[in-house]
Amino acid sequence: MYVPKEVEIIEVGPRDGLQNEPKPIAMVDKKTLIKRLAECGFARIETASFVHPKWVPQMANAEEIAHYCQELGLTYLALTPNLKALERAISVGVPQVAVFIGASETFNRKNINRSIADSLVECKQLIKLAKKKGIFIRGYVSMSFSCPYEGDVSFEQVRYICESLIHYGVDEMDMGDTNGQANPKIVYERFMRLREFFPEMTFVAHFHDTERMALANVIAALQAGITKFDSSIAGLGGCPYSPGATGNIATEDLVLMLEKMGCKTNVNVELLKQIIPYAKGLSSH
Ligand code: HMG
Ligand code: MG
Repeated sequence: MYVPKEVEIIEVGPRDGLQNEPKPIAMVDKKTLIKRLAECGFARIETASFVHPKWVPQMANAEEIAHYCQELGLTYLALTPNLKALERAISVGVPQVAVFIGASETFNRKNINRSIADSLVECKQLIKLAKKKGIFIRGYVSMSFSCPYEGDVSFEQVRYICESLIHYGVDEMDMGDTNGQANPKIVYERFMRLREFFPEMTFVAHFHDTERMALANVIAALQAGITKFDSSIAGLGGCPYSPGATGNIATEDLVLMLEKMGCKTNVNVELLKQIIPYAKGLSSH
């Protein structure tokens, strides 16, 4: 079996892990989680989201989180769904931003209140501005395997959105199994085809673990040449507009599996394990 020597794990717990929590989480707890995760050695952590607080209340105060990450000297990612979000991110010096588009029309409208066509127009302007400012840009495609509203999502639809975002200039493409319905076969085939179409692009895999197949999906993605994975401490997470979906793949499971297979993650597993009870304590799920 093919096992790369090293992979990058991007911890997304402080953003994807917490965004769906119904009870407000104190700022001090968010900061403690970020600090303890940073101590584990992640090269990057997704910590904030400059969304409208009315849409995702848990992500309010992204500016304060950004200042804190800077104090820690952390390389962090923040979600910026529209130009207003990007302007907020620029004003506090965010180093890496993420734009996101749903591969299904219904999900995209529910999630960002726009058609896919309008989102692409906005992303184009947004990516242009971010590039001008020297900001690293991640492009997410959500529901890139299937959608809770529309069912199967075609490869053509996913390819079309990737092609647009790559053409606008994103630095990496992150394929989201937002509702956690992918399986190893579709994961392997989709990533193989995407890498054939876009050989120069770096792809990231972002699995939710609804059907407990996320680890198997990682193995399939590795076989297709993917070496970057998002995950969330204690498997926290979910998207408020993805009904029935559970958390992201748990970081501790992913790190343990990869390290046992001889694949370096550069994450300190012992420190990571010590954070689990604290992280679980923040969640009401
Ligand atoms: P909208 O209501 O359509 O915004 O929201 P609008 O452009 O019509 O503006 C309405 C008002 O909101 C205006 O204020 C704007 O200034 C303000 P007014 O003039 O009425 O006083 N506004 C903002 N305020 C603060 N920050 C902003 C902002 N934008 C507008 N950024 C919007 C559009 C995109 C903002 C909204 O739909 C939104 O915030 N959606 C976010 C949804 C979200 O965060 N979903 C979860 C993340 S995606 C995910 O989890 C999937 C992922 O994990 C990958 C995977 O799993 O596949 C990434
Ligand atoms: Mg997600």
